[in-house]
Amino acid sequence: MPSFDWKEKHLSAPIAATVIQDSITYPNGRGYPKARPDGKIILGDNLNVMAALLPEYENRINLIYADPPFFTNRKFPARVGRGEDSRKPSKWKLAEGYHDSWTDIDSYLQFLYERLSLMYRLLAPNGTLYLHLDWHADAYARLILDEIFGADNFINEIIWAYHGPSPIRSAFNRKHDTILMYAKSKDYVFNADDVREPYSQSTVTTFKSSPKAGFGKIPDLERGKVPEDWWYFPVVARLHNERTGYPTQKPEALLERIILASSNKNDLVADFFFRFGYNFVSCGKTR
Ligand SMILES: C[S@@+](CC[C@H](N)C(=O)[O-])C[C@H]1O[C@@H](n2cnc3c(N)ncnc32)[C@H](O)[C@@H]1O
Repeated sequence: MPSFDWKEKHLSAPIAATVIQDSITYPNGRGYPKARPDGKIILGDNLNVMAALLPEYENRINLIYADPPFFTNRKFPARVGRGEDSRKPSKWKLAEGYHDSWTDIDSYLQFLYERLSLMYRLLAPNGTLYLHLDWHADAYARLILDEIFGADNFINEIIWAYHGPSPIRSAFNRKHDTILMYAKSKDYVFNADDVREPYSQSTVTTFKSSPKAGFGKIPDLERGKVPEDWWYFPVVARLHNERTGYPTQKPEALLERIILASSNKNDLVADFFFRFGYNFVSCGKTR
């Protein structure tokens, strides 16, 4: 296998944070999940938090969704005001969001490498990782994940397509993210029947009029199909009831599909790049 290197590539023994239990404080406002007594939200750098979770959770987490900074070299302030005129950004009420600024690509790759290596250790033997990125770094991350998981354990490169305004006039509008899906072993969970969706109207019409349309393969139109590896979900900005004002918020429908496909009831599910440097480990499945 080709090797992929960058300046000062290394894995150091992670230093475990001391995790202090305070209280569970879900703001039950718009866009936040309902309180679950068996879930945890941990504030801190996820490197030290994951190290602290190792003694209890190594080889135990069934599904990890990771939505790290994308190497955009931008700052993302959070928009906290509601009902403001979206055409007047200078009037928006803003709070500190997060910085996605790096001295170079090497420091970013090192950041990902150390964290993805710990996620691998935390994953259960039949567990799955979904790493959410975009064109800035997805190609590099694929090589890192091949190294950590083994190229044979690559499952899907999912394209999340969306639309929206863009100032770009010199290229096609960049309107998709890439989600890399890797399993820890061949024995991974994939609940195909839980994520089926209806066939398109044109497929239904075609097969109803001519059963030979599929070269001998007749789809089960009632049961629906397993989705392709490209998904369309509108960005949250347009779904006002979900919107929290967080700049890079991902739609619930996207997470729902991931959770349904790759976890079972009462499985452990973790999101290590939750929000404002918060790391979220939760138990159970949203059904
Ligand atoms: C792309 S955003 C995640 C957005 C989130 N998935 C959502 O739907 O709202 C990346 C997040 O990672 C957090 N983050 C960055 N570095 C981190 C670190 N070392 N430990 C924990 N969280 C971190 C940032 O604060 C930011 O909230």
